[in-house]
Amino acid sequence: MDHRRVLLAVSGGIAAYKVPELVRALRADGHEVRCVLTRSAAEFVSPLALQTLSGSRVRAELFDAEQEGEIDHIALADWADLVVVAPATAHVLARMAHGLADDLVTTLLLATRAPVLVAPAMNVNMWAHPATRANVESLRGRGVLFVGPASGPLACGWEGEGRMAEPAEIAASVRLALGPASLAGRRVVVTAGGTREPLDTVRALTNRSSGKMGFAVAAEAARRGAEVVLVAGPGGLATPAGVRRLDVETALEMREAVFAELPRADALVMAAAVADFRPAERAEHKIKKEDLPEDAAPTLALVRNPDILAEASRRPGRGVVVGFAAESRDVLAAAQRKLERKGCDLLVANDVSRADAGFDSDSNAVSFVWPGGDVEELPLLSKSEVAARLWDRVEKLLGSGA
Ligand code: PMT
Repeated sequence: MDHRRVLLAVSGGIAAYKVPELVRALRADGHEVRCVLTRSAAEFVSPLALQTLSGSRVRAELFDAEQEGEIDHIALADWADLVVVAPATAHVLARMAHGLADDLVTTLLLATRAPVLVAPAMNVNMWAHPATRANVESLRGRGVLFVGPASGPLACGWEGEGRMAEPAEIAASVRLALGPASLAGRRVVVTAGGTREPLDTVRALTNRSSGKMGFAVAAEAARRGAEVVLVAGPGGLATPAGVRRLDVETALEMREAVFAELPRADALVMAAAVADFRPAERAEHKIKKEDLPEDAAPTLALVRNPDILAEASRRPGRGVVVGFAAESRDVLAAAQRKLERKGCDLLVANDVSRADAGFDSDSNAVSFVWPGGDVEELPLLSKSEVAARLWDRVEKLLGSGA
């Protein structure tokens, strides 16, 4: 790998004790590493240790006449090919999300134009707190990359999600983040979210898909240099950097958008939860109970929606086609049957009965199901990491992968 410049920003959490190991792993990969610390980080890890291992002076102060003379903080922000924040505390994530620049680390993060990779580490309840969830969401939406956190026993005595990813895993994510733009020149279409099938002017049939999985797939493709069209069902997620977004509501609208884009696409990934049925009729006005006989309820007649994935798979001259399968029992067997029925090149099966996977979670536990019966089961990963593993496979199908 090329020699690249990694600026490692360390914030004040107990996981900072693992940072020397991370510096060693990054140096072993051939990267030049410079470390900056928040003031509280120096309570958890020795600046001298980081200086010795990185071979570079460590900075903690925004205004340091001596060091600004050597390399000022803006030059440091410009120097980096990648900024890694490890560990990233809830506080530093909040400051990043809100664009604060009240110390050296946050000022560099605001000034840099390099990609940013974050390895969160905190108490399980802090990670789950709606404020942190919103901050993570907003950062992901701006293209910030995440690795971890992992689940397990935490230094605070709690057990659960919040452990910083291991240094080897962070180093692997750095390799990926700095890797070549492996999808440059490719056009991909990704669908995300649920569809909404109106019954009347106020009611609709829909499902629990948040769009997180599909948005992560789109963000990862854009990060790898692809031209990405994201066909998104209703939802409030921020559009990932570098992605062209087409908002749709119903399955019929999604079909139209997908097939308008498909002829020029090298790959289609259908992560959307498309409604299989829609109301046979859409009432022009709100259906009112006063208009029905006493105690009567209207009968809902449904008709089938087209199967976009199956239709795309049958199109002559199509590129790589990938589907997702939301299953709640006999996941692999059901996914295998679905793959054969739909005729796509790869099916990503997820067990949507789990609380930490499938709908609306930030993590997912998926299996890649291949034609012919091969199955790759992946551990519980963040949706961004699932997206990365997915594109690794699709790149091979496209013939552009390693
Ligand atoms: O959005 P999140 O909250 O992050 O949740 C992610 C997810 C659980 C929605 C996602 O990981 C997932 O599993 N998406 C597919 C959900 C689904 O509709 O599965 P299915 O088994 O019903 O459909 C199989 C495949 O056919 C899917 O690729 C689907 O997009 C496609 N399909 C389904 C019906 C239809 N009429 N047309 C289609 O193209």
